[in-house]
Amino acid sequence: MSNGKYYLTTPIYYVNAAPHIGHAYTTIAAEAIARFKRMQGFDVVLTTGTDEHGTKVERAARAQGKRPGEFADIISNEFRTEWQKLSLQIDRFQRTTAPNHAKLVNALFNACNENGHIYKGTYTGLYAVVSESFVNDAKPGDIDPETGKPYEEVTEENYFFKLSEFTEPLLKFYEANPDFIQPEIRRNEVLAFVKQGLSDLSITRTSIKWGIPVEADPSHVFYVWFDALTAYISAVEGEGRWPADLHLIGKEILRFHAVYWPAFLMAAGWALPKKIFAHGWLLFENDKMSKSRGNIVRPSPIEQVMGVDALRYFLLREIVFGQDGSFSYDALVGRYNSDLANGLGNLASRTLNMVQQYRGGATPARCDDVDFRVEADETAAAVWEAYDRFDFSRALERVWSLIGRLDKLIVEYAPWKLAKSDDPESKERLDRILYSALAGLHIICRLIEPVLPHSASLIWQQLGNAGPISPGLPRWGTFDLPKHIGEISAVFPRVDLKPAIQKMQDLEELEKNRQAALLGKKPEPAAASAEGLISIDDFAKVDLRVGEVKSAEVVKGADKLLHLKVDIGEGEPRSIVAGIALAYKPEQLIGRKVVIVANLQPRKLRGLTSQGMIVAAATDGGLPVLAGFHEEIPAGSRLK
Ligand code: ME8
Ligand code: MG
Repeated sequence: MSNGKYYLTTPIYYVNAAPHIGHAYTTIAAEAIARFKRMQGFDVVLTTGTDEHGTKVERAARAQGKRPGEFADIISNEFRTEWQKLSLQIDRFQRTTAPNHAKLVNALFNACNENGHIYKGTYTGLYAVVSESFVNDAKPGDIDPETGKPYEEVTEENYFFKLSEFTEPLLKFYEANPDFIQPEIRRNEVLAFVKQGLSDLSITRTSIKWGIPVEADPSHVFYVWFDALTAYISAVEGEGRWPADLHLIGKEILRFHAVYWPAFLMAAGWALPKKIFAHGWLLFENDKMSKSRGNIVRPSPIEQVMGVDALRYFLLREIVFGQDGSFSYDALVGRYNSDLANGLGNLASRTLNMVQQYRGGATPARCDDVDFRVEADETAAAVWEAYDRFDFSRALERVWSLIGRLDKLIVEYAPWKLAKSDDPESKERLDRILYSALAGLHIICRLIEPVLPHSASLIWQQLGNAGPISPGLPRWGTFDLPKHIGEISAVFPRVDLKPAIQKMQDLEELEKNRQAALLGKKPEPAAASAEGLISIDDFAKVDLRVGEVKSAEVVKGADKLLHLKVDIGEGEPRSIVAGIALAYKPEQLIGRKVVIVANLQPRKLRGLTSQGMIVAAATDGGLPVLAGFHEEIPAGSRLK
């Protein structure tokens, strides 16, 4: 089932500091759109990545005593692993330091140059460091609001792009492609800006070293936007994916995407992207969340405490996509408890438990509540249409009103009364409400999959389905229910507000320390002193063994502890209590090979006996990292 190809992108993020939930917001939204497009039958590729060149990165690296490349490697990897921690399905991760990228940026420049759209000139201007651009309407001495310091005056020889020639072609293009820039309010801003007439744009620098050299004149490197935007093409080079169907971005970088980028591409004679959607800002404590303001919240602590679907749901339900909106821990946990735990979670468990209790888990034959059937189909069509406009909050609102309708319907039918009666009419009514609830949940799972993929698939399994969630617009009566429901478990357990927030904030602190340690100067190795040295015999006293984790459980009432059973080749696994619960989830550890100190005196922790110690690296104020092996090695092997 292929509807054709669909290629979408997030911005490629600057590597001047660690990822925060502002970046996660775009990446999650893009991943949700990718899922929706897959549901619609498209063959989808989603690209994200990192933007690694320019003054900002050079300065951030220098502040940490690192080379820019080394610094960029660390942060780029933080972005990549952040998306893994959030289980985001990313198809391509492009770095602007990739070799194929440098070639393509030069190819774009050469094409523009051959077509007569490039010239060499000098430029003196006031330069905004944070946005990496000259500020046209500032006077010397003006304060840069991003840094609180005066703009820097910069003069250099630059290659210029003749953007002024593209005023008319761009206006024509916008007119011929009214959907190119979305939402409408942003399109109007761009039109107003372009109508004033465009000035030429300097696209190279000689003052910067950390950039892609211009092959035709290697004393220059490319200006960061000429370099960065081209990553959308180099990410999928040779795959026949360009032009992109969608660039999803934040509104502060709209001008670069909706004006410069199409102009560069027109000049080169290359294909233009089909759509640019600029969403609003995520605010925290009443300000745009940003690295330069220092008011950031990291995504993984939220994932660890609440689950990634809670974050996805919050961001896409709470904020109207396109507008600004606020993040707060209170609102996050509040929405989770009201909409997910009490709303969807409760509906699913209540329905499944009734089917279990009244019918031994067997699903009834098709038997509709006609009004509800109509409403479910109308909801599905409306949700589909809202997703198509990237109107996530509206889509979810519609799903949740269907959930509310189903809750009411269950109360109206009162299956608990019907189940007590033997008359055929009651039996028929009982079947009708249970069938309707199950079919309704099937439709709901398919509608929420783009936003809540993990929970949707758990509920889907509990409904008795073996395979993945069915694609396509769900319509009542076009699918069969599985004969029997699956195993029931709580999908969204209720969360206590205060402890949950405390835990997220504690983890945030650890994450911050871990990243600081990662970026900071390496501590000097401690000087060896005669007193500090031990003999080989001393070392031999320590019985270090390879262990295989057989089971792992959280220790009730102890946030940091896990209770492990570890096979160290003695037959009976050892019971080991370890302070690693903030760093690892129990299920991540099962089957993992670890290092155990096997001859420590046993000790009691929270009523559990610990018969050994697990070896982990301590990061400065951050989370512990378990020692492990790159090769296969049997449990019980000794380390010497
Ligand atoms: O601009 N609210 O990178 P960047 C909403 N490298 N979205 C936010 C956000 C917030 N508070 N903070 C960040 C760059 N974002 C360039 C892009 S593309 C060719 C080059 C998201 O690290 C949003 O998508 O500053 C925004 O546009 C992007 O991160 C900016 O990331
Ligand atoms: Mg930015």
